[in-house]
Amino acid sequence: MVTIDYRRPDAQLHLNGFFPFGPNYVWDDMDRPEAYYEFDGFVRLAQAAERGLFTAIFLGDSQRLREHLGKITDTAVTGRPDQLVLFAHLAAVTERIGFVATLNTTYSDPVDLARRIATVEALSRGRVGWNVVTTDNAWTGENFRRGAYLDHSQRYRHALEHLRIAQRLWEQETVDAHGEFYDVRARPSVGRSAQGQPVLFQAGESGEGRDFAARHAEAIFSRYLDFDAALAFADDIADRVEAAGRPRDDIRIIPAARITLGDTAAEAEERAAWFGRRVWTPRRVLAVLESVWGCDLSAYDVDGPLPDLDPVDPEQTKTHGVVNSRDQPLRTAAAWRTLSAERGFTIRQLVAHLNRGIEFVGTPASVADELAHYVRAGAIDGLNLVPNSVPTGFDEVVDRLVPALQERGVYPDEYPGATLRQNLGLRPPVAYRTDRAVPA
Ligand SMILES: Cc1cc2nc3c(=O)[nH]c(=O)nc-3n(C[C@H](O)[C@H](O)[C@H](O)COP(=O)(O)O)c2cc1C
Repeated sequence: MVTIDYRRPDAQLHLNGFFPFGPNYVWDDMDRPEAYYEFDGFVRLAQAAERGLFTAIFLGDSQRLREHLGKITDTAVTGRPDQLVLFAHLAAVTERIGFVATLNTTYSDPVDLARRIATVEALSRGRVGWNVVTTDNAWTGENFRRGAYLDHSQRYRHALEHLRIAQRLWEQETVDAHGEFYDVRARPSVGRSAQGQPVLFQAGESGEGRDFAARHAEAIFSRYLDFDAALAFADDIADRVEAAGRPRDDIRIIPAARITLGDTAAEAEERAAWFGRRVWTPRRVLAVLESVWGCDLSAYDVDGPLPDLDPVDPEQTKTHGVVNSRDQPLRTAAAWRTLSAERGFTIRQLVAHLNRGIEFVGTPASVADELAHYVRAGAIDGLNLVPNSVPTGFDEVVDRLVPALQERGVYPDEYPGATLRQNLGLRPPVAYRTDRAVPA
């Protein structure tokens, strides 16, 4: 057996329950989309996650219904409720699990948002995280009074000004800020948080986004799960974190993943394929292609080859509301054609292959081994776990994978602390530390 010299032999895996609000899992009560807003389902998920000592429930956000080719997308089920309201409710029926809300800086006001976050912090006694995103699309901006008012080049400068105002309020300072984007006088209206400040997450891929995370965030929602790509990302972030004057291990890296288990490898594969067929209908498979090609491809057979026409718009996709890396349609189409030619993929096989990037499939023992390897090698610190089904989807991981992870010493036997910050093993807030005090 090969002995691997792990960078972090004692590292622990964090599991967050991720509820994506999209069509990419099996809803146990598919015929009743209104079930999405029924509190019982969320309680079921949150309590299962807490039973499994998950670090947090993590929600992504979009502030408009998804659109595809000019219409509300027929492959999504519904929109998303307000995360802080939902979390305030879930805090009342849980004790230890954290709540990470994705809230954008571009379309919110810092004083208002800081107060709402501080309120849930108080109600949950320090269990809140804020995933700071800038939501880089003009389409979302149409929802708001100011419209799509920020160019990409300004987004992170604006995000920083926004964040600093919020942090100073959390620090119980009176704010009198006159910057590039804000002219604000405000006093804190909710007391200090039990964990100092909410834990800051970040999700955004540009160099600026990564630097923003390296300077200000304590965890990153990343897109890299393939082992080599995840390790390269972790190294890049650690370099940036160090350059920002922080210890290299000051930040947790957490991509999304789906986990499907079975008693044998073959059974796990079979179950993953079953969920895959339920979720990846021909219509959804084509929608993935259409999000790049920007036109109706319904005439194409998903079991045939990729279209030989080029995407209609080289600049922008016509699918809105999903986070993707396909903002360069010509390049993406060319890469997908090359991949399909090399591997002999049909459209359906290509989409299945692209989606495989976010899955672990196997027995509890084999998946636990794989995850222990990822964490000890320093490729990831945790997973935002996408359930295969809702609202029962965390149960198999809680009942079967968690004990296997515990046996391997890579998962806690009880919650390490009472706040999200303690449970993520984080130091005091970045902005508090003497070398990085919140600037006046
Ligand atoms: C893995 C990942 C998840 C994201 N999730 C969301 C989300 O749920 N809601 C949102 O508005 N933006 C989300 N974003 C995008 C951010 O809004 C980000 O600010 C945007 O991509 C622009 O920044 P960038 O150019 O640095 O990528 C996500 C980005 C990544 C990489």
